[in-house]
Amino acid sequence: MLTIVVGGFFGDEGKGKVVSYLSLADRVKVGVRCGSVNAGHTVVMDGKIWKLRIVPSAFVNPTAKLLIAPGALVRLDVLMEELAATGCDGRLFLDPNTGVIEEIHVKREASDALLRGRIGSTLQGVGAAMSDRVLRRLRLAKDFKRLSGMLTDVPGVIHDAIKRGDNVLVEGTQGTYLSLYHGTYPYVTSRDTTASAFASEAGIGPKDVDEVIVVFKAYVTRVGGGPLEGELSADEVARRGWVERASVTGRLRRVAPFNLSLAKRAVMINSATQAAITRVDALDREAYGVREWLKLPASVRRWVEEVEDAIGVPVTIIGTGPEVRSVVDRRHDLGLLK
Ligand code: IMP
Ligand code: MG
Repeated sequence: MLTIVVGGFFGDEGKGKVVSYLSLADRVKVGVRCGSVNAGHTVVMDGKIWKLRIVPSAFVNPTAKLLIAPGALVRLDVLMEELAATGCDGRLFLDPNTGVIEEIHVKREASDALLRGRIGSTLQGVGAAMSDRVLRRLRLAKDFKRLSGMLTDVPGVIHDAIKRGDNVLVEGTQGTYLSLYHGTYPYVTSRDTTASAFASEAGIGPKDVDEVIVVFKAYVTRVGGGPLEGELSADEVARRGWVERASVTGRLRRVAPFNLSLAKRAVMINSATQAAITRVDALDREAYGVREWLKLPASVRRWVEEVEDAIGVPVTIIGTGPEVRSVVDRRHDLGLLK
């Protein structure tokens, strides 16, 4: 079975948490990371924290094979650092066609007034490398001797796994409204960030996708420029306990309450079959660490049910704290797991 996990707002919805949980709960055999190093996915297990920028969040499952999509872009320094930090050397593979960001791309973005200023880019060289890829001058993983022992046919491995009936988890990055096509252009990232784009990046046709899980957070955050409906003042954000910093750049995140119309549209654009909502413990502290639906505060359960009625897909995964297992998984109760 193949599942794509995608962000429903502006990134930082908790995809790292959802993907790491699913990789354990669903005994995932293959975890595929898409996107690039501008996206920080936070994974917390046994009190240890990883802020992953390229290694798939499924690394927490020691039996999972870890793949980097041909449509993704890596940076060698970031990759080597994270391989050491996660200890997953030997089970992580890149496609020969995976793009490589080089120093020149980082430099080009550092001197780009639009990206540094109005857009508030993370300046990781992703957009510059993407433009080189479009112009057919980007060097790919197969051009680097250092990577030669780590290359594999990523679409081939994914399709073999699907044929065997193994669970494959495709990890999207950023969020629907940072999409180059469907987001708040020009305040967007340099690629499409919807489910179809991640299928394409990984080399999967639409008919091979079984589930699309769109991830929302209990409130909306955004870093960098661009519109944010209902944006709260810094004081109000602090009062609600919703202060967050970006995991790649350390910038303060802008914050707004949950946005139902954005959520509905994200379900539509991604053809989501399920939704996940993280950080419900930020709405009611009594939800912290809860792992059973009926143990959630009634107000949280009511809100989740209102959201799922409005968006038209079940809210199956509910995040109640940073730890990988702090999750209410409703799939069994809702008859969605065989
Ligand atoms: P860039 O993709 O780094 O050029 O950044 C473009 C815009 O997307 C900026 O507003 C960034 O803050 C935002 N952005 C890029 N990647 C992420 C992410 O992973 N999470 C949240 N925002 C992101
Ligand atoms: Mg992030």
